[in-house]
Amino acid sequence: MNSPLPTEADALVFFGATGDLAYKKIFPSLQAMVKRGHLNVPVIGVAKAGWGIEQLRERARDSLEKHGGLDPDAFARLLQLLRYVDGDYDDAATFAALRKALGTAQRPMHYLAIPPALFATVVEQLAAAGCTQGARVVVEKPFGHDRASAVALNEVLLRTLDESHIYRIDHYLGKSPVHNMLHFRFANGFLEPFWNRGHIQSVQITMAEDFGVMGRGGFYDANGTVRDVVQNHLFQLLCHLAMEPPVRTDSESIRDEKIKVLRAMRTLAPADLVRGQFDGYLDEPGVAAGSRSETFAALRLYVDSWRWMDVPFYIRAGKNLPVTCTELMVRLKRTPSVYSAHSPAANHVRMRISPDITLAIGMSVVSPRDEAISLPVEMLASRHPGAGEMDAYERVLGDAMSGDATLFAREDSVEEAWRIVDPVLAADTPVQPYAVHSWGPADAQRLAPPGGWHDPVPGNP
Ligand code: BG6
Repeated sequence: MNSPLPTEADALVFFGATGDLAYKKIFPSLQAMVKRGHLNVPVIGVAKAGWGIEQLRERARDSLEKHGGLDPDAFARLLQLLRYVDGDYDDAATFAALRKALGTAQRPMHYLAIPPALFATVVEQLAAAGCTQGARVVVEKPFGHDRASAVALNEVLLRTLDESHIYRIDHYLGKSPVHNMLHFRFANGFLEPFWNRGHIQSVQITMAEDFGVMGRGGFYDANGTVRDVVQNHLFQLLCHLAMEPPVRTDSESIRDEKIKVLRAMRTLAPADLVRGQFDGYLDEPGVAAGSRSETFAALRLYVDSWRWMDVPFYIRAGKNLPVTCTELMVRLKRTPSVYSAHSPAANHVRMRISPDITLAIGMSVVSPRDEAISLPVEMLASRHPGAGEMDAYERVLGDAMSGDATLFAREDSVEEAWRIVDPVLAADTPVQPYAVHSWGPADAQRLAPPGGWHDPVPGNP
């Protein structure tokens, strides 16, 4: 076992260097890190493509031209850092070559941007080749397919590494508005008096995407919406919304509060889940004939804690919905007043994570034209992410390089999240068809919150 790693990693190794994730996310993040002066150590791509370094360089250039833009200075510096090891992950020679490429590095970071089925092989080979001493390992989601496989995977990792050296990526945690949820809740005093079951009627989280599986049919079909984004990204948002204030801001104090929320969540029952599949999904390349994987999910959850008992939490996520937007809507109870009877809606707090970043407080005012009519209005703070802002992947990779685990999922929370969804996934509930660019199957209305589903309108802040 290695000791804790407070220090900066001195090499960045990424497996899956010729793959889709590297192409879309990793090269742009590496260039951004170099540009900001956050990356100045050897960067070693590993893959089995029969390539040499020149092909990887070309791939990096192409990636940047298509995703985010090539910055000539930063790119030139990145190319100086870039190395490549080609070989099979089953072959010890690949790892001997990696060991050689690592040279004098003492604290490498190994980023496994590869299918989870290969994690165990790669970690065992890394250990056998002497590449895990002083190392940290970053793994992509999904971490396991259910609780049992997550536990088994963790056992493999723990044979070689200890928990403090394992960084489980949930890139949602790298998004600044997601982090800002904690700041908004805990740096401002005004929310706290009403942020509880006494005043809050319901919470909704919507993650809508107006596109389909975009060539990732094989990956997506093996997972479905609940495994792809609910068990990880959206449960993290729920934790940020529901957790108690941490006593300190270090990674463990924050993760200790999040695990309490997950522990308090009821295991989902089949009646609390509606699954849908968009029309035409079965024709997507990589999707199994007759697949019953969901591309839409609506869920109702409960957090049985002192703060949240009996407040329903709703989650809705899906592909090919009408818009692309992630938004949280916290509805308050109506006031016990004759005025309230004429109001169109109760108060709410709305938090939009993307595409723009918005915090809004909804209220009711008298119409300037007719005092007998009340109007819903919002007080809001909103902005679009600006050029040069850190992308989620850049942030999480940078944090892993410097040994800060705050934005990564701890094993206990991963297992607890699986505990919540496992039985209902195993129940294989019906998958109902829905039209492309609709809000999912009609049956989702069965789970509609009081006052109905809130459909985000991304054209407006
Ligand atoms: C990924 C999922 O984790 O998150 C994708 O696998 C999803 O299916 C993506 O589209 C959404 O992330 P973002 O950052 O684009 O909102």
